[in-house]
Amino acid sequence: MEIIAKIDVLRERLAQEGTIAFVPTMGNLHAGHIHLVEMARQHAQCVVVSIFVNPLQFGANEDLASYPRTLKEDCEKLQAAGADVVFTPTEQELYPVAQTMLIEPPSIANELCGASRPGHFRGVATVVMKLLNIVQPQVAVFGSKDFQQLFIIRELVRQFNLPIEIIAGATQREDNGLALSSRNGYLSAAQKLEAPRLNRTLQQIVDNVQKGNRDYAAIETQSSQYLTQLGWIVDYISIRSARTLARAAPEDRELVVLAAAQQGKTRLIDNIEFNIT
Ligand code: PAF
Repeated sequence: MEIIAKIDVLRERLAQEGTIAFVPTMGNLHAGHIHLVEMARQHAQCVVVSIFVNPLQFGANEDLASYPRTLKEDCEKLQAAGADVVFTPTEQELYPVAQTMLIEPPSIANELCGASRPGHFRGVATVVMKLLNIVQPQVAVFGSKDFQQLFIIRELVRQFNLPIEIIAGATQREDNGLALSSRNGYLSAAQKLEAPRLNRTLQQIVDNVQKGNRDYAAIETQSSQYLTQLGWIVDYISIRSARTLARAAPEDRELVVLAAAQQGKTRLIDNIEFNIT
């Protein structure tokens, strides 16, 4: 496995490759990321993983400075998972001049996570566009835990005619249902015990809707109040069309319920995709 920090060196290295599958990450890798690397392995001869904590997608009050940076451990995990190349650009390498050209995502980027993180998806879309242009993969793999991000990246690839297949990796979970996330490391022991309730609450919503309850607004409010009473700071719980991410209409059959809520200062997100008949 090679670790490459320079764009020109990476391009020269990848010029020899037939097919490339790419997994963009911000590092602090866990089993969820490794699952994406394993999926990438099945799709191409060469697997490239990037590790870059992208300042453009962090708000002023967010955890950019404290975001866990664990390059050595990450590279050991990637080597074991069979990655071929790890791209680790510095901020200077990726943004040598101020990034004044930005990708403006569709208005759905201002809802859900985007409502409380203004500009977040603009930063994600811009760095993903840059990384895709640098690596030029045939396939790129993203986690389904970040459902809204995945939706916006699919739109990016579609609307800019990028010849790249986007593959979604299933959310990896602890046995208790907690979605794996780099931010779980911030949780105290007590918060870690409480955290799986987020997924349980989403599962209850799915059961409720599948039993025929179509009063989505009431379900969202009740679930949000339930978590709030238990000490969560709820950002949103929302039942949406899995196809468009618009608020679910009674005729929608492919749905997704998404949530973001804080345990203390740690913001957790999760979602479950499901169908109704
Ligand atoms: O999901 C992430 O880790 C990041 O948002 C991504 C896609 C690597 C862009 O910085």
